Amino acid sequence: MPKIGDIQLPDFPLLLAPMEDVSDPPFRALCKEQGADVVYTEFISSEGLIRDAEKSVMKLDIYEKERPVGIQIFGANLESMLQSVEIVEKSKPDIIDINFGCPVKKVVSRGAGAGILKDIDLMVSLTKAMVEHSNLPITVKTRLGWDDDSIRIVEVAERLQDVGCAAISIHGRTRAQMYKGNADWNPIRDVKNNPRMHIPVFGNGDVNSPETAMKMRDEYGLDGAMIGRASIGYPWIFREIKHFFETGTHLAPPTMEERVDAARRHLQMSIDWKGEILGVFETRRHYTNYFKGIPNFKEYRMKMVTSDDSASVFAAFDEVLEKFGDHKFTTV
Ligand SMILES: Cc1cc2nc3c(=O)[nH]c(=O)nc-3n(C[C@H](O)[C@H](O)[C@H](O)COP(=O)(O)O)c2cc1C
Repeated sequence: MPKIGDIQLPDFPLLLAPMEDVSDPPFRALCKEQGADVVYTEFISSEGLIRDAEKSVMKLDIYEKERPVGIQIFGANLESMLQSVEIVEKSKPDIIDINFGCPVKKVVSRGAGAGILKDIDLMVSLTKAMVEHSNLPITVKTRLGWDDDSIRIVEVAERLQDVGCAAISIHGRTRAQMYKGNADWNPIRDVKNNPRMHIPVFGNGDVNSPETAMKMRDEYGLDGAMIGRASIGYPWIFREIKHFFETGTHLAPPTMEERVDAARRHLQMSIDWKGEILGVFETRRHYTNYFKGIPNFKEYRMKMVTSDDSASVFAAFDEVLEKFGDHKFTTV
């Protein structure tokens, strides 16, 4: 069974992917309750952390109940990355993850995120320095390569392992692909099959059902699956995969009562954590998925996503439960 440093994980763990503006403490807590084995924060700018930018610092908050939790940072400057390791450690995460995969222009243009895939030596030396600078396990999340002509992930993963990286999560797309096309898990399997690899190799990209997770485990032989988009507004994906692994059968989708309860708690935790205005605003993106597939739902969805005060959103949840409480969800 895989281990990240001293953290013992179950067989084929499920990891909640770092997602900007999504993987905040309330959402991570809900995913943890539904079976996520490791959760990650969204990426946090090392430059923002060392400037003590309020937005970056707030992202360091973690709840005890979500452990093991990894804080993900990005940057390309050695000094800033090392300083931010010290700042991050004060939040006492279980893992520090380095983002070497973000494809967004503003990150890449500074040589950070996936930008570093153009300079593998720097990627390795940054990782080495961070491993030496911290007592926490340092993990890496990256992509297959910069573009189709530069996929050297087998060699890259081995070099990262050799400088002390404790686990690697690989998104099966290149930077050039952004989010287009299908994720290709073949190069990730090649990483896992490298006889020199002994750290966990987690697969990422397009795991969105129990079947795809099973394929990643059984056909590709990876050590675990990292799940992003399929969890947005649907934290039950984790328990559904686990149930399928254990029984070979599909768990019934969550009832309306469970969905309303999750939406309510999500909103309440968000308000408790970041205040009424941001809490109401930033939880909106999850509602569409919480209540997907209900006919004639538009009026209620609009209330949830346009109300500016939490009392109106909570009232909309009550209405939904009353009106659609008997709705039978058939598919995820
Ligand atoms: C809204 C959103 C925000 C993301 N933010 C981050 C991030 O902060 N750090 C990171 O490493 N990847 C980030 N990603 C990429 C995901 O972690 C993941 O690699 C990608 O979505 C593929 O996995 P999936 O098919 O399971 O979604 C983000 C993806 C989405 C959709």
